Amino acid sequence: MLTIALPKGRLMDRVLHLLKKAEIIETTGYAESRKLIIEDPKAKLRYILAKPTDVPTYVEHGVADLGIVGKDVLRESERLVYELLDLGVGKCRMIVAVSQQSNLIQIQELGFSAKVATKYPNITTDFFRSHGIQSEIIELNGSIEIAPIIGLADAIVDITETGTTLKENGLRIIGDVCSISARLIANHASYKLHYKELQDILEKLEEVCE
Ligand code: PRP
Repeated sequence: MLTIALPKGRLMDRVLHLLKKAEIIETTGYAESRKLIIEDPKAKLRYILAKPTDVPTYVEHGVADLGIVGKDVLRESERLVYELLDLGVGKCRMIVAVSQQSNLIQIQELGFSAKVATKYPNITTDFFRSHGIQSEIIELNGSIEIAPIIGLADAIVDITETGTTLKENGLRIIGDVCSISARLIANHASYKLHYKELQDILEKLEEVCE
């Protein structure tokens, strides 16, 4: 039986619909259950419904053979896993934003004295370093958009999908970090040991991914 780690939360519905379209699962009802492990003996598959940030951990440690997770979480985790496929769902951008009232126009104006709040300290450090910028990074776990409003940071690095959260909190984009979407990832050993089964799932998903 293969184990697939799925991300609970905002990606879940889109991922379940994709798995159903690919005829890997029969129902999208998993999201309504409070069960954290769901078995499908007929398909010889088991699903772990995980916190998105834990999906790469499960896959790296081999307790899940496959996982589905956003590229933001995957890059930030720096876990050693294979990235097999861009599923094309959960598309959004990772951006740098400041308050509408800020004088900052471009990221190069952020310097030693600037504070940047983010859920993604690794990605932010890499991105700023590649642009020769060294700012203080303040790690938060959510509601990042609050930081400039309450004076905790001069800028934020966060994901935006519709742009509503930025707009409603009076923030303006000054830089683009990368584009994000959901990825299929695999454990290194599983990829070799269960190559045929993993390839079968990969091909089914390739046919339906957007
Ligand atoms: C994400 C992100 C933004 C918001 C952007 O937060 O951190 O806050 O979505 O979406 P929008 O552009 O469509 O408004 P999430 O809902 O995952 O929760 P969080 O604030 O706890 O990270």
